[in-house]
Amino acid sequence: MMDLKLWLSILIVCEMAESMGPGQNWLISVPPVISVLESSCVVIPCMYDYPKKGHLWKKRPGYWRRGDDIVASNNPKFKVTQEFKGRSKITGIIERSICTWQLNDVRVTDAGPFYLTIEIPRFTSYTFSKDTVALNVFQVPEPPVMTIEVSNKVTATCKVTHVCPTSPPKISWSHPGITTTTTKLTKAWLTTSTLTFTPEEADFNKPLNCTVNFSDKKTAEGSVLLVKKST
Ligand SMILES: *[C@@H]1O[C@H](CO)[C@@H](O)[C@H](O)[C@H]1NC(C)=O
Ligand SMILES: *[C@@H]1O[C@H](CO)[C@@H](O)[C@H](O)[C@H]1NC(C)=O
Repeated sequence: MMDLKLWLSILIVCEMAESMGPGQNWLISVPPVISVLESSCVVIPCMYDYPKKGHLWKKRPGYWRRGDDIVASNNPKFKVTQEFKGRSKITGIIERSICTWQLNDVRVTDAGPFYLTIEIPRFTSYTFSKDTVALNVFQVPEPPVMTIEVSNKVTATCKVTHVCPTSPPKISWSHPGITTTTTKLTKAWLTTSTLTFTPEEADFNKPLNCTVNFSDKKTAEGSVLLVKKST
């Protein structure tokens, strides 16, 4: 369900980018809730628009807040609170209306809600206090989704969704073979590892495992039985 929300909000961001045109109002597109694994990272996608009134303000400090605490900032004038220092970064370019930010080493206490403030020097400041982002921090990773096809060769896949495209989980296999790994944006981010190898008699009726290493502290394992195809 959370994945769907994230996906929808990414779609909305794309639509906004196409249809916004010259800004009339303060608008923001952010996912309302993102599920994230404790100790992993989360990239929070965000776009906004502001009433331009014929002006383009070059310098535009922006920061993300939780209540009065600043949790990510693109300007040293707005100091990040100790709790978030060194863990968060605005990765979007505020001047280009991209307010995406990244939080690393997520803690259970990072629930939010978080919201964006934009300062337009000598003019105004605006806080998107109605469009907040909350993090649903969970502690036990879901097992990966596995598939297996057996013919002359074994082809197995191991898939995990996550919200940390900058450091996707590492996937490893219990059996040697040729592996390829991809990470792409579908519903949230999907990292897929594909293993292929030519099975030997001894490989059959044994589990084939895939281990997902999300961070130093969190791993999940999936297992499928390698069954000989009846001919
Ligand atoms: C694979 O997983 C199964 C089931 O969880 C476990 O019993 C087995 O020890 C694992 N094998 C390896 C090589 O990790
Ligand atoms: C996961 O990967 C990291 C980085 O390579 C490593 O330091 C850590 O020990 C691994 N964790 C597990 C449980 O395998």
